[in-house]
Amino acid sequence: MSIVTLKKLKKMKQAGDKITMLTAYDASFARLLDQQKIDVILVGDSLGMVMQGHDSTIPVTMDDMVYHSKMVSPECKYSLVLSDLPFMSCTSPVQAIKNATRLMQEGGAHMVKMEGGESQAENVKQLARHGVPLCAHLGLQPQSVHKLGGYFVQGRAVEIADKMIEDALLLQDAGADMVLIECVPVALANRLTQALEVPVIGIGAGRSCDGQVLVLQDMLGISKKAPRFSQDFLTGQSEGISGAVATYIDQVKTGAFPSDEQCFL
Ligand code: KIV
Repeated sequence: MSIVTLKKLKKMKQAGDKITMLTAYDASFARLLDQQKIDVILVGDSLGMVMQGHDSTIPVTMDDMVYHSKMVSPECKYSLVLSDLPFMSCTSPVQAIKNATRLMQEGGAHMVKMEGGESQAENVKQLARHGVPLCAHLGLQPQSVHKLGGYFVQGRAVEIADKMIEDALLLQDAGADMVLIECVPVALANRLTQALEVPVIGIGAGRSCDGQVLVLQDMLGISKKAPRFSQDFLTGQSEGISGAVATYIDQVKTGAFPSDEQCFL
């Protein structure tokens, strides 16, 4: 059991304490993040890009997710471990239960993350019924990149924004314990954070969210192409990678990150 629990994350939202999250996919970085006391370590399917060199998360398999979760989770004494359910791994409640079980039993994850809105409500409900902590992923859903035609800001149109809020509330009612929103305008992120009782974690969603997440390689400035909402915390850092992570944590906690230039209107 990690020191950071779901109960603690919910209390942090109530107290207005910002939640910090970064991705990690191996033991060395997981240990470093845990030692810096990051609240949540996300074993994201972004590993398809930053570990495997693909141009999307689509090729990532359940075996990949279990393999990387297994490397990360033993190092996490402090941080809660959240692992992604990859492309097409939860198309029915039976499949979602089977794959969430793998991430938790074999991978050691404390919580699982699933992309999708209304269409995932039944899967979320069944996982919640079986005691699986779950984070929903709304806004830009990278597993749908080919359907979307690229990585774009989501929810600028009023009807899409309203539908996102409706879906988020539906997923919360179904039992989601946290909601991650990716690439949404600040006003919508604000509405979602206010409307939901569960913590809302943003990436490219402005500073009003209850917490922030970044891909580790983006914030270390070593990914092929970092998105505009990210920041290189390593360049110019005298304390190296640990210092970059500590600065990220501090800037999220104080609200210095993200800046206005790193947000979408
Ligand atoms: O896979 C991942 O790293 C993610 C983040 C982009 C939030 O889902």
